[in-house]
Amino acid sequence: MRLRVTTDQPWDVAADVLVIPIVGEPVFEGPLGEIDRRASGELKALAAFGELRPKRFTSSIAASGGVRAARLLTISAGPTNDIDRELAVRLGSAALHRLAGRHAASLAVWLEPLAGVDGGAELVAGLVARGVVEGMFDPKTIYVDDVPTAPPAIEELVLIAPAGTDAAASTKAAERGVIMGEGANLARSLANRSANDVSPEVLAEEAYTLARKHGLWIDVIGPDKATELGMGMFMAVGRGSDNPPRMIVMRSGKKGELDAAGRHLAIIGKGVCFDSGGISLKPPERMEEMKMDKTGACTVIAAIATVARLAPGTPLLAVAPAVENMPGPHSSRPGDMVKALNGKWVDIINTDAEGRLILGDAMTYAERLGATHLVDVATLTGAVSRALGDLVTGAFGTDPAWTGEVLAAGARAGERYWQLPLVDEYLTEMESWYGDVVNTGGAEGGLVKSGLFLREFVTKPWVHLDIAGTAYYRKAKPWAARGASGASHATLVELALAGAAPA
Ligand code: BES
Ligand code: MN
Ligand code: ZN
Repeated sequence: MRLRVTTDQPWDVAADVLVIPIVGEPVFEGPLGEIDRRASGELKALAAFGELRPKRFTSSIAASGGVRAARLLTISAGPTNDIDRELAVRLGSAALHRLAGRHAASLAVWLEPLAGVDGGAELVAGLVARGVVEGMFDPKTIYVDDVPTAPPAIEELVLIAPAGTDAAASTKAAERGVIMGEGANLARSLANRSANDVSPEVLAEEAYTLARKHGLWIDVIGPDKATELGMGMFMAVGRGSDNPPRMIVMRSGKKGELDAAGRHLAIIGKGVCFDSGGISLKPPERMEEMKMDKTGACTVIAAIATVARLAPGTPLLAVAPAVENMPGPHSSRPGDMVKALNGKWVDIINTDAEGRLILGDAMTYAERLGATHLVDVATLTGAVSRALGDLVTGAFGTDPAWTGEVLAAGARAGERYWQLPLVDEYLTEMESWYGDVVNTGGAEGGLVKSGLFLREFVTKPWVHLDIAGTAYYRKAKPWAARGASGASHATLVELALAGAAPA
């Protein structure tokens, strides 16, 4: 996709479609009045007809009259004036989503109505560019060749910045936004792929391909080496399937190398390519969604590739334990005792609480490779989606300063998080008769207990992001198709970039 930033008037920009964000009730004065005048009053007529209501993400397509673009697409930012970063991204996506099945090769977006976003016009260019790229994603195109209902593949994006905007800075921000969007789409594309397509081995091959492409170091640990190393929790899950497990380890920079922020950051992602529950088999309703239980792994793999594109050489470690959680003659059973890589004895009460097992060993391993700060991202609990829904990711943290940094990266990325407490007292309900800890301890407070379990396997500042609610949409949103959402990719990239060497 070619990218161009201009400060021309919106009516002077040639494109198949001109996107016009409408904030609140449309007021046909100033530039919006001029667009309407040149479009022979078409927008005013639509408003009088009852279109252009200030309902967020509603849109209308209008003839353009004397405006140079062939068609106008209005998109409502909603009733309020406070346009935050998330909304700026989603308006870009929603515009593309609205054009699904239409023919458009070039798109111009008028940014001025959104310029109030904290950070100003340059920032908005980046957010909207990212949104446009994310809006082009359609999971149906992964397997089906010709999808007439897919959003158009935009070949040229023209961002119309307000006069006086720093064009060079805007262009740079937009280029960065495109790369961020492509990274999110890579994560979504991997996550959406089915379990008969993406086994742990195939995920590792995809990681190899990306490592080669972006000059990343990679090591993939198979079952023999994992057993020899003592990854008892990882193997307890991985041994249950005919598709062997893979611990995928990728790095930019040198082993243990500190970044410009003085950290060796590790991002760890849950890679359960299919979660049947294992011997603690899940009920059939919506079990098909569990092909997306690898989204955390796909997100960290995509994020390290994005960081390699934006700031090559930035020290960063990504660890993605990939397994398939299946019932069978080799599966772990409820009551099985396994020894974690950090030496703790774990009592597997429920084989469906498998994510925390593979993540625990992955985090211990990340620390052995020199990680000083950790973030894991995982579709860990149904409880988080019941609590926070599909728009807010749950976060846990051991170190207030580090948690603050991760949440600040989330805010920069335009992603929403809500911090949940690690309630020490509940640990008493997780004591094991036979070992150090059980992997599930009673239904009450199950969300908190998932965090408490993971905490047993870290010694460094750590944040856990539970994306079970946000990782994928069950129904299409105005800004996205159903399926994987790309949640947390941008946050992880922003977090890592805080440690990039100053340009
Ligand atoms: N992968 C699931 C969590 C999940 C549920 C993700 C729904 C997305 C949508 C996880 O491995 C799991 O099974 N968690 C159990 C934990 C329980 C056994 C303690 C859960 O949430 O029910
Ligand atoms: Mn499970
Ligand atoms: Zn799972």
